[in-house]
Amino acid sequence: MVIPAAGQGKRMKAGINKQLLELGGQPVIVRTLKIFEQDEWCEGIIVVVSEAERERFHELFQAFQLKKVNALVIGGAERQHSVYNGLKVASSELVLIHDGARPFVTMEKIHELVNEANEHGAAVPAVPMKDTVKRVQQGFVKETVERSSLWAVQTPQAFRVSLILTAHERAKQEGYIGTDDASLVERIGQKVKIIEGDYRNIKLTTPDDLLFAEAILLSKGER
Ligand code: CTP
Ligand code: MG
Repeated sequence: MVIPAAGQGKRMKAGINKQLLELGGQPVIVRTLKIFEQDEWCEGIIVVVSEAERERFHELFQAFQLKKVNALVIGGAERQHSVYNGLKVASSELVLIHDGARPFVTMEKIHELVNEANEHGAAVPAVPMKDTVKRVQQGFVKETVERSSLWAVQTPQAFRVSLILTAHERAKQEGYIGTDDASLVERIGQKVKIIEGDYRNIKLTTPDDLLFAEAILLSKGER
């Protein structure tokens, strides 16, 4: 599996990589990795980090005795570049790509995704949009998008390695940058299976998300 963790976390405004922030006494990235450490289906973890933070992450993984991290790969300017660098060293048949900044994914969902990706080649979790979405231009509404068909997509996204590698290579050749990995598969005409995600599988993106994260920990009896 590939965990991109090479971002700068600009929207979090924490001054450090948001995945190094502590949540209930543990760095976010450690929480994320522990879920996969405990998953018997997970054979190995490739973590993608920035050159400047490589040593810091390496020391952290040793301190927390994480055993499945078998490669620390250097990321790129966009998330897509980081994921591609990780994918290039993946050796399994199936791969999960999961944001380092999503520490609340459950093992149940992971297994559901693996089963669906085995069957369909690509599977991603998504939740129905709760808010009405409008397209806005220069401060005014352009249009209201019909909500019933809108889903907010999360990670982990699960793929056959051959499929997602081809999709990334095509995107690279054609200069396309997508905001998730599934979009690269969609654009080469392959189907992506959607499974019902979990509203609690949040990505820590802005400071408010840290409040939600504390509430999720509380609900799990960890606070
Ligand atoms: N990521 C990455 N390489 C990049 C950009 C992002 O590996 N060049 C990773 C992040 O570390 C994160 C995940 O991709 O785990 C999702 O990205 P995002 O939430 O956008 O994180 P950041 O890019 O770090 O945050 P921001 O966009 O606010 O700067
Ligand atoms: Mg980003």
